[in-house]
Amino acid sequence: MATSLGMSTNEQATINRSVRNGTVPKYEIRKPRGSWWRQASSRFVNWFAHRWYHRIVRWTAPLTAFWLSQTPMIFATVATLVRFRIFDRLRTGPLSSAELALLVDADEQALLRILRPAAALAILDRLPDGRYALSAVGEQFCSDSAQPVAAWTELMDRMVLETLPQLPEAIRAGDSLVHHVHGKTCWERMAEVPGTNELHDIACGRWTELVVDSVAQAYDFSQAALLIDVGGGRGSQLSAILKANPQLHGTVYDRDETKAAAGAMFLKQGVSGRACHVTGNFFEAVPKGADLYTIKHVLHDWDDVSVVRILSNIRAAMSHSARLLIIEGSVDHNLGPMESIRAVWDLSQFATTWGKSRTLDEFAKIAQQAGLRLKTVFPTQTIDTLILECVPV
Ligand SMILES: C[S@@+](CC[C@H](N)C(=O)[O-])C[C@H]1O[C@@H](n2cnc3c(N)ncnc32)[C@H](O)[C@@H]1O
Repeated sequence: MATSLGMSTNEQATINRSVRNGTVPKYEIRKPRGSWWRQASSRFVNWFAHRWYHRIVRWTAPLTAFWLSQTPMIFATVATLVRFRIFDRLRTGPLSSAELALLVDADEQALLRILRPAAALAILDRLPDGRYALSAVGEQFCSDSAQPVAAWTELMDRMVLETLPQLPEAIRAGDSLVHHVHGKTCWERMAEVPGTNELHDIACGRWTELVVDSVAQAYDFSQAALLIDVGGGRGSQLSAILKANPQLHGTVYDRDETKAAAGAMFLKQGVSGRACHVTGNFFEAVPKGADLYTIKHVLHDWDDVSVVRILSNIRAAMSHSARLLIIEGSVDHNLGPMESIRAVWDLSQFATTWGKSRTLDEFAKIAQQAGLRLKTVFPTQTIDTLILECVPV
């Protein structure tokens, strides 16, 4: 039986079997670049996270368990504050509950029911005169923050929460949550829910902006002339790499929805003379002609069979001397304090996109299925961001 990916179910089963049980091709893991004290402090944080996090949770088990049972209320508090733009409104100074209620057109007594827990949890600060102010945590949720958390919160609120009651059924069926509930991929679903495409692009773009400099520093892009960033979104990564490498030209290859934002990013970063956006579908084809291809934080959105299809299309576009850089975290490499975040993130991928986080060995086996060889792993200064250099077989 042929599928939407153009593969028979037998071919898909072979891919799944090889990724699960096949032998692992050899690859090299480089030492991270950077100052010795940064590496030493990162090792210390890793050691501390491994040794102490689980102990602290064990010592406080009843309290931790209670808080876990209350997480829907905590999320609801944060999501409502984001929806009412209360973090943004407090940017210009503290406000009383009456003033906030007026601004957001809410009942003051009911609004207090979210302001109080927010203050108790240090999501907001409550001043001695009773007014509310931005706390250090609250600042992260402002829409102009460098952090992507406000956009993620709104995206979760609009896309995922309504599907959560179906999670047990989706787990029984082995289906992604969004697909199980709506019968659609998350991209198709986002096209139906107004505003979610923009929220997704903002969230991905901000996250990327936090890590791109470490990517640009960790790999030598100086020998390349043309880079194609497959699924490059709003162009944040491409812009940072082009800025650091004046000889380089680049293309973002992505869905049409990202075109305007990528164009604006190229202008803002002063690289519009060397960068462009090409609309297309990486399940159908990838443009030829680059000596370097990158694909960052895209493969974790897809199951193994889809990833083999995407990588095979990139491989088909590559000349024999071209390189592909897969830029992602891996579940088994030096995660330190990110380990718990990565695990929760993995569930979020299962819920929304049907994707998953992978080990380095899984990446090596998947690359092999697509006619590529994972040659070298370059760690970056950002924990959870690795550069996996692949070459054509
Ligand atoms: C998680 S985002 C990553 C964006 C960017 N690489 C980054 O790290 O900021 C996944 C990207 O894949 C793109 N994408 C999804 N399906 C696609 C398809 N079939 N063809 C091309 N791009 C696609 C999305 O539009 C989105 O920009």
